[in-house]
Amino acid sequence: MTEAAATTTPEVPTRRRTTNVGIVGAGAVGATIAYATLMRGAAQQVALFDVNGAKARAEALDLSHGIQFVPMAHVEGSDDVAVLSDSDVIIFTAGAKQKPGQSRLELAETTIALVRQIVPRLVEVAPDAVHILVTNPVDVVTYAALKASGLPSSRVFGSGTVLDSSRLRFLLAEHTGVAVQNVHAYVAGEHGDSELPLWSSASIASVPLLDWPGLDGTGLLDAEVRDRIARDVVESAYRVIEGKGATNYAIGLAASRILEAVVYDERRVLPVSSLLENYHGISDVCLSVPSLVHADGVGDRIEVPMTDAELDGLRRSAEAVRATAQRFGL
Ligand code: LAC
Repeated sequence: MTEAAATTTPEVPTRRRTTNVGIVGAGAVGATIAYATLMRGAAQQVALFDVNGAKARAEALDLSHGIQFVPMAHVEGSDDVAVLSDSDVIIFTAGAKQKPGQSRLELAETTIALVRQIVPRLVEVAPDAVHILVTNPVDVVTYAALKASGLPSSRVFGSGTVLDSSRLRFLLAEHTGVAVQNVHAYVAGEHGDSELPLWSSASIASVPLLDWPGLDGTGLLDAEVRDRIARDVVESAYRVIEGKGATNYAIGLAASRILEAVVYDERRVLPVSSLLENYHGISDVCLSVPSLVHADGVGDRIEVPMTDAELDGLRRSAEAVRATAQRFGL
């Protein structure tokens, strides 16, 4: 190979030799994230930390009994935060569960206190980790974790509306009869009641969603259908919680997907929740917008073109999250 060619060959991003993932909280969500991570072979060391040491150890033991069936990995569980030492990524799931009918923002007081107590210890034992917050209300919790960690905002972000966007795509796929993989649509804003679908930039099979002709008489995605689908997305978690007490599978898969974007340095565009600075004029609040996720955490926030109505919705969502954060001194 000539000297010139040798210097111009693009660097092929290499996967880390071993990846250590730490999970704070061995409840249904934390355990499901551990399970999804093992199933997808995204980490070689998975550590579960929970104040309930017996639970953390039992989840680790149960997962270890299945290692024969997944890519090789080692699983540990403990009530000693040292079990998370040298984690490359820490996923924070500890906190109160939404009760039937309870909004996520109503969980803020409990979880902010928990974050302020635990996050500094996480930074001590894993100083180089990227932190993915999942605990609700995830936007406020992400902001609290960022403040408590003293880390750059790229390394502390939340699962945000990755799950809501997945729900939106599922419903659109069901309505149009097209595979969910061919539906491209984002939910932005709060992971909660003030979130909003970005209809104007969505597309299905490269057709702008607002021009979707419909297949087999499924009809246009007119305003009435879009409003119903948007409501169904917001109500999804409440519906699952009514029936089974909590959500865990979809959020577990969503968090595992975000983890892979970090582990494999994918530069994947995901609507994660991160600190916005002059994003369409919005600053100093953690909110979900389509963003690049890679080995160092969250990178460019993609300034997606929005209609005036969408911009108004995003600003209202920012106000809802900011008001809760300010109530707790953030
Ligand atoms: C949900 C939880 C993760 O939306 O907030 O299922």
